[in-house]
Amino acid sequence: MQIETAEDMPLHSSDDVVRVRQAVRAHAVAAGFSLVDQTKIVTAASEVGRNTVDYGGGGTLRIEVLRDGQRKGVRLTFTDQGPGITDLALAMKDGYSTGNGLGLGLSGAKRLCNEFDIKSTPGQGTTVTLGRWK
Ligand SMILES: Nc1ncnc2c1ncn2[C@@H]1O[C@H](COP(=O)(O)OP(=O)(O)OP(=O)(O)O)[C@@H](O)[C@H]1O
Ligand SMILES: [Mg+2]
Repeated sequence: MQIETAEDMPLHSSDDVVRVRQAVRAHAVAAGFSLVDQTKIVTAASEVGRNTVDYGGGGTLRIEVLRDGQRKGVRLTFTDQGPGITDLALAMKDGYSTGNGLGLGLSGAKRLCNEFDIKSTPGQGTTVTLGRWK
């Protein structure tokens, strides 16, 4: 598997979430994703990026376009140095929110992607990795 392109973006505000949506869309188009697949990864990015801003105290996103033979994919890595998540299984449950949300962001993002990974250390931060392949 090769990394064809990579871009790092800050994620501290709602405006950054908008820019992230646009950048993820552009990379998905470059990877040759269909409109449906573009929208899936953009929606997932929006949910996880919103969490990075709202709960993680802000952080960064790395966008990578990947190639594995003829297959192309987009990998998104969201990193923050926020409070972290003590119970990951609970955070992944539909309807669980410590804020005012519906608690559907993480579970929804997982359903929209082919690869999903979340690592979190209380007091140190959270990293969420999403992957979608054509
Ligand atoms: N980066 C993060 N840092 C710390 N806690 C997080 C982070 N991301 C998610 N969480 C925790 O996981 C919970 C579930 O996240 P999820 O996105 O599923 O729901 P939500 O953001 O509360 O609501 P919704 O996304 O539906 O508006 C959050 O309420 C929060 O407690
Ligand atoms: Mg959320």
